[in-house]
Amino acid sequence: MEAGDNESSSSFPIGETAQEKGLSYVPKCYMMPPSQRPSLKSEFANVPVVDLASMIEDKPLERSIIIQDIAKACRRNGFFQVTNHGISQFILDGALSAAFGFFDLPAEDKEKFMSNDVYKPVRYGTGLKDGEDKVLFWRVFLKHYANPLNNWIKLWPENPRDYREKMGIYVEEVQKLAIKIMGMIRGGLGLGPTYLSQNVKDGMNVIAVNCYPPCPQPGLALGLPPHSDYSILTIILQSSAGLEILDTQENEWRAVQDLQGTLQVHVGDHLEVLSNGLYKSVVHRVTLNSHKTRISVSSLHSLGMDDKMKTAKELVDDEHPERYKESSFSDFLKFLHENDIGQGSSFLVTLKNH
Ligand code: OGA
Ligand code: NI
Repeated sequence: MEAGDNESSSSFPIGETAQEKGLSYVPKCYMMPPSQRPSLKSEFANVPVVDLASMIEDKPLERSIIIQDIAKACRRNGFFQVTNHGISQFILDGALSAAFGFFDLPAEDKEKFMSNDVYKPVRYGTGLKDGEDKVLFWRVFLKHYANPLNNWIKLWPENPRDYREKMGIYVEEVQKLAIKIMGMIRGGLGLGPTYLSQNVKDGMNVIAVNCYPPCPQPGLALGLPPHSDYSILTIILQSSAGLEILDTQENEWRAVQDLQGTLQVHVGDHLEVLSNGLYKSVVHRVTLNSHKTRISVSSLHSLGMDDKMKTAKELVDDEHPERYKESSFSDFLKFLHENDIGQGSSFLVTLKNH
């Protein structure tokens, strides 16, 4: 077949997508239009690496400096990296190895989780919306709910044997970290210390375990198209570089440096809403490489399923009218069910008051 000319974008059986088969070319249905192709030599993003050591040790003076650093990053790009975040390298490595182990399983083990139903609490898939994508993306994923852990862990894959244990430990730690970072963000916005704190503690944590196999022509395709996350905060653990963020001041894509042990923190749509637009929900995409599989574990933190995120009243006045409509995680799922993010649909746009 001539470079995949006859490949349709209809649903592929498990193991039959180009990314899973390790094809030596990029089929047409994966090719981005020329203007949206990655340059693969983007400059590094100028994003702060926030050292959380003194926050973990609870030192008040240093804490206020960290709060300001985070506030600045949230206003600038909606993105920062954290180091000395309190999650050990052992736990990070464990989560990544559990993820690699899962994607290495034979098709039968993964097939039982395969679904296009965005309402499923555990699902495996390829692309964004299988079978409906206009352009396909070079990704395989497993998504599962994770908070409270005891409710959901029993639905997670049983194979590889250590998946639940290793991913479970990471998830507990990352949930605690998200709550701490949320506390600092609340401080930066001048909201009280308990503002939404219980709602976040009891909220949703969706874990998206992404696998981007090597791509023979990484300049033609993407792992994920430009999008912002619906969440309040997303924390990403990655095995290697590949993430790019849109620098809104320069209107250029910038590569995120892969620094050992750091985690990537994204401002999501629901934090832009909470902050009345003061903080930016970062637009990001995933680029590919031709030599090694990249894994990322995204942890998307939001309020509870039907708990509506609204703009903080403290940030609304005559000069700053409320810019967004309220919405919940379930509103996002409905949006996801009805729209195609691969075609540029944006949940955030639907929330804006005009
Ligand atoms: C996501 C995402 C980025 C990555 O899961 O929403 O943007 O690095 N992931 O895989
Ligand atoms: Ni994302």
